[in-house]
Amino acid sequence: MQTRPPIPNPEDYGIDLRTGFVPSQSVELPAYYAPWRDLCSKMPELLQKQTARSAIDALDILDTKHLATLAHWQRAYILLGYLSQAYIWQDRSIPSSTVPASVADPFLKACDHLGMQPVLSYAGSSLWNWEPNGRHHDENHHTSGTAASSCPDLADFSTIKCYTTFTGTRDEDSFNLVPSMVEAESGRLIPLLLNALDLVHQHQVQQKQQQPGVFLHLLPVLEECTRTLTKMHEILSVLFDNCDPSVFHQDIRPMLAGSAAAEDKGLPAGVTFQCSDGSRVVAKCVGASAGQSAFFQFLDHMFGVQHESKFLVSMRAYMPRQHREFLGAVEKLPSLRDIIDARSPTPTTTTTTDRDQTLVTAFHAVLEAFRLFRTRHIAIVSRYIVQPVAAEARRLRAEGKPTTEARGTAGSKPVPFLKQYRDETVLR
Ligand code: HEM
Repeated sequence: MQTRPPIPNPEDYGIDLRTGFVPSQSVELPAYYAPWRDLCSKMPELLQKQTARSAIDALDILDTKHLATLAHWQRAYILLGYLSQAYIWQDRSIPSSTVPASVADPFLKACDHLGMQPVLSYAGSSLWNWEPNGRHHDENHHTSGTAASSCPDLADFSTIKCYTTFTGTRDEDSFNLVPSMVEAESGRLIPLLLNALDLVHQHQVQQKQQQPGVFLHLLPVLEECTRTLTKMHEILSVLFDNCDPSVFHQDIRPMLAGSAAAEDKGLPAGVTFQCSDGSRVVAKCVGASAGQSAFFQFLDHMFGVQHESKFLVSMRAYMPRQHREFLGAVEKLPSLRDIIDARSPTPTTTTTTDRDQTLVTAFHAVLEAFRLFRTRHIAIVSRYIVQPVAAEARRLRAEGKPTTEARGTAGSKPVPFLKQYRDETVLR
């Protein structure tokens, strides 16, 4: 009998079977943590008045022992991640190279618990950072440790907002939550694709390759992938409609900056977290970026898309441990591409059937939809990074000041990097 590594159960990795890496419920922290929540809800004002640092300095050091569930730890990570970014970047001309114990102590514990780097990353700014905004949900009151809404409407931007932001604007809500909407829409592809692999394997074990079973299982799965990728592409419009590029460039993006390669921003030695027991943790981390999404790396593997650059593999260090481990388990499995390739005509085989050809055509459609998604994402990067940075460079040059080049928050030279990723999303 053929053996293959076990198909991972997504739920063992904290993945929701409907909404994928995005939690399907919004949870509030126990009342004990109200001081963190209160500061974060005043964040736009604190940053505007430049009083975030003094407010954080005055915070008591709270104990993490009341964090009872994974969702609690995720919420704590968000609040403390935002507080640490606010502390560092409140005054961008003189960033703080230290974070005090009121944030450092519990933040380092939350990062350790979740298996994350000590920096606000994509899971905190986007995946876990949503709550109902009360427009369509009656039960939008939060109770300690319980679901605020059993029916989240992650498909409708008007019904959700961020749990925490720097600016309190819909621009920032949309920047953070459009990736969550995209991932929630496509989350069901995770069990769908894994189940399809399992079924194909069972047929192969039973020596039924030539029977219609594989075809009947795979074709609807491939068609669903194409439909979903097309929907994901459409959801990107929410960003264009709600996020003003200048608000993003001036007010949001600088607050997400990391401490790696930040010499020109005034952080030559990274950031030091100063703990109450006298210990110090020095971090040089990149900032939050959807480049830290596990979902797209899952899709790449499932569709057999290979990338020359290992940049996104390096971004796994910034994912929660469970997401990283899920990718590790998935990568031991064959891809759908391996299965389709085995059925495609080659110069030496003439035995493919009409059904095999239909599968190959359906697979081409999946890759084309994925490629189009990546093409639209490049248009986003041009609008929200390249054009504002170029406009700023023109202004600085006119003033005789030095200019900086466009970089992603995760540190890439975005356009060439993302074009290469897009161009690799094809059947070779
Ligand atoms: C204003 C909005 C956005 C900007 C400025 C932006 C920028 C970037 C940049 C610069 C990168 C390269 C990595 C880095 O250095 O950070 C990146 C990667 C990536 N972004 Fe975005 N992004 C935006 C919105 C989105 C949205 C809405 C999604 C949807 C989930 C998304 C998904 C991705 C993915 C999956 C990658 C990894 C590359 C890939 O797999 O193709 N981004 N983004």
